[in-house]
Amino acid sequence: MSGKYTIPGPLQPFITDKAIIVRSPGRINLIGEHTDYNEGFVLPAAIDKAVYVVIEKNEGDRIVLHSTDFNETVEYTLAAIKPVVGHWSTYILGIADQLQQRSYSIGGFKLAVYGDVPLGAGLSSSAAIECATAFALNELFGLGITRKELSLIAQKAEHEFAGVKCGIMDQFASLFGKKNNVIRLDCRSLDYEYFPLELGQYKLVLLDSQVKHSLASTEYNVRRSQCEAGVAAIQQQYPAVKSLRDVSREMINACIGPADIVYRRCKYVVEENIRLQEGCIDLLNGNVEAFGKKMFATHEGLSKDYEVSCKELDYLVEQAQHNSSVIGARMMGGGFGGCTINIVQKEAADALIEKVTVQYQNVFQKDLKSYTIQIEEGTSVIMK
Ligand code: GLA
Repeated sequence: MSGKYTIPGPLQPFITDKAIIVRSPGRINLIGEHTDYNEGFVLPAAIDKAVYVVIEKNEGDRIVLHSTDFNETVEYTLAAIKPVVGHWSTYILGIADQLQQRSYSIGGFKLAVYGDVPLGAGLSSSAAIECATAFALNELFGLGITRKELSLIAQKAEHEFAGVKCGIMDQFASLFGKKNNVIRLDCRSLDYEYFPLELGQYKLVLLDSQVKHSLASTEYNVRRSQCEAGVAAIQQQYPAVKSLRDVSREMINACIGPADIVYRRCKYVVEENIRLQEGCIDLLNGNVEAFGKKMFATHEGLSKDYEVSCKELDYLVEQAQHNSSVIGARMMGGGFGGCTINIVQKEAADALIEKVTVQYQNVFQKDLKSYTIQIEEGTSVIMK
């Protein structure tokens, strides 16, 4: 009945014969960070950690939401939806609000949510819950919305109900993930292409700094406006420029003084788009080592020019750089905490994790967590 994905135990009590269960995964991103809202390129993949929702219709316009992780039930009405920022239910309410704003006809519903995407780890647990909800409501009320439109709805819900002016990467990756493939997404046109990720003797390891990115939403929005300020400055001389996607290093040098903080922000984004294009060629040529070097360069840019790293993430990448079994590492996602993504020799991965865990504990008195992830399918109904 559930196909290849197992229904999580905590959701069992909520399953009735009218219920639909949807799974929507978290994501990793190999390269292309903070490029999505600049209409650039990203290279994410959906993972084997996901959010699951059980949903069924409810009478009238009553919404009853339950989180098994927080062991909490909350009730709302469709007519009076507003953001509850900082609360898990805001991501679900944001989707219902977007659907109503777009005049889709939905009624009351009961929804229970469970997830094993670590929260605040940079693996997009929020996009996963948004996409699970959007997909589930689309199914439940037969709205006929495409995956592309669902990703845009979920992104807008994050803007309006979570207050983060995120790009499209996380929601797109969750909805469009394909087993063992990364997605090269053009965030301007939303054209995308799958690339099989063949790492040969290497595998992906995530090291979770356990620093929760609380600064992230404010600073994230600041970065976004600094990029917009850069575009505005460049447009004075190059009016055809629409976003940093259209910008070259030469244009930045011609229009923005090097002492200006906006200079470094723009330089990073422009270089990251180039690295991504070249990195895709490395992957196609099976040159994982060359790809790994670009990940280190990305980290350098995120840390020094874009300034979205933190001392813990810098430390983890530095340790990786000093370890011959790691060919590439960088912080992943929005930043200010969360995980680093590492490409590590398969047989050396356990030893690496053990060593860095001890060092990390000594330096920061924090317990490092690690995840060896698999690349999985995107959002789907697992029981109907
Ligand atoms: C967060 C956002 C994404 C993207 C990344 C940085 O995950 O939700 O849209 O901007 O940060 O690449």
